[in-house]
Amino acid sequence: MTINSITVVGAGVMGRGIAYVSALAGFQTTLVDVSQDQLQNALDEMSILANKAVERGKLSNIEAGNLVGNIQTSLELHTAVKSTDFVIEAVPEKRDLKKHVLETVDTYAAKDIVIASNTSTISPTELGSYTKRSEKVAAMHFFNPVHRMRLVEIVKGLETSSETVTIIREVAERMGKETVEVNEFPGFVTSRISAMVGNEAFYMLQEGVATAEDIDKAIKLGLNYPMGPLELGDLVGLDTRLNNLKYLHETLGEKFRPAPLLEQYVKAGRLGRKTGRGVYEYSKDGELIKK
Ligand SMILES: NC(=O)c1ccc[n+]([C@@H]2O[C@H](COP(=O)([O-])OP(=O)(O)OC[C@H]3O[C@@H](n4cnc5c(N)ncnc54)[C@H](O)[C@@H]3O)[C@@H](O)[C@H]2O)c1
Repeated sequence: MTINSITVVGAGVMGRGIAYVSALAGFQTTLVDVSQDQLQNALDEMSILANKAVERGKLSNIEAGNLVGNIQTSLELHTAVKSTDFVIEAVPEKRDLKKHVLETVDTYAAKDIVIASNTSTISPTELGSYTKRSEKVAAMHFFNPVHRMRLVEIVKGLETSSETVTIIREVAERMGKETVEVNEFPGFVTSRISAMVGNEAFYMLQEGVATAEDIDKAIKLGLNYPMGPLELGDLVGLDTRLNNLKYLHETLGEKFRPAPLLEQYVKAGRLGRKTGRGVYEYSKDGELIKK
């Protein structure tokens, strides 16, 4: 089956990035959310990104115009998936919410299409069990920021067919991504390591080991990470990081217990870049405010 259209469910940090690379690859892309504000923000952010790419000479005006022209938005999941060829779910990392979304997609989308989830941690076998097509469900894990990060981690559930993996790999490659295939285990490869390092950095901040700036600087310059774990947490979203940790704590045990300071930040609405404040503070256009 040739894939011409993709529906991305959830227009947050990840959904809008996935919709951008999908439209750029020439797929007719529909971005779905329950919030009109989120859809509008996503459209604005994708236009800004396309304009910047034109300024840097990475895209021509025509390519940027085609990209924007390939994107539609919708508040109606059941209508949006009716005639789509491929679905990528990117709603928050909460099992009940993912269950609800996957059940709806399964009911209204064509029976032969693949439903991929951008989950960072949740078992694709479990996600597949929310549908009547578990052989066509797998995790398709993108990285933030999606237009810059080259990897897509493909995680097979117990029932996922090899044909489904091939279809996901082809879609990812058309989006210009490299893929790895990972066996199902909570947190896969990347989220497990990233959650562990990010959580440890929060414990250090809580214990007063060093300032946030110095923790990040030490990890970047001493261990050669491209970003410090606290600035990465702000980019990922501290609520998303906390949800991942809660799931890993439940499934893999004590070593993933979320740092109380992280829980406190989330309670206070300090979610990172997307709310203008997390560990650090950000201007309206997402730039770090230097102290
Ligand atoms: N943030 C990251 O760096 C990152 C990286 C890789 C994977 N992920 C995973 O991607 C998924 C999404 O994370 P995010 O950071 O983009 O979250 P987010 O909170 O930024 O965005 C989620 C979006 O989903 C929307 N939504 C909620 N309920 C919905 C529904 N029923 N139907 C349609 N839309 C709905 C929300 O309005 C919001 O716009 C999660 O599973 C997360 O673990 C996140």
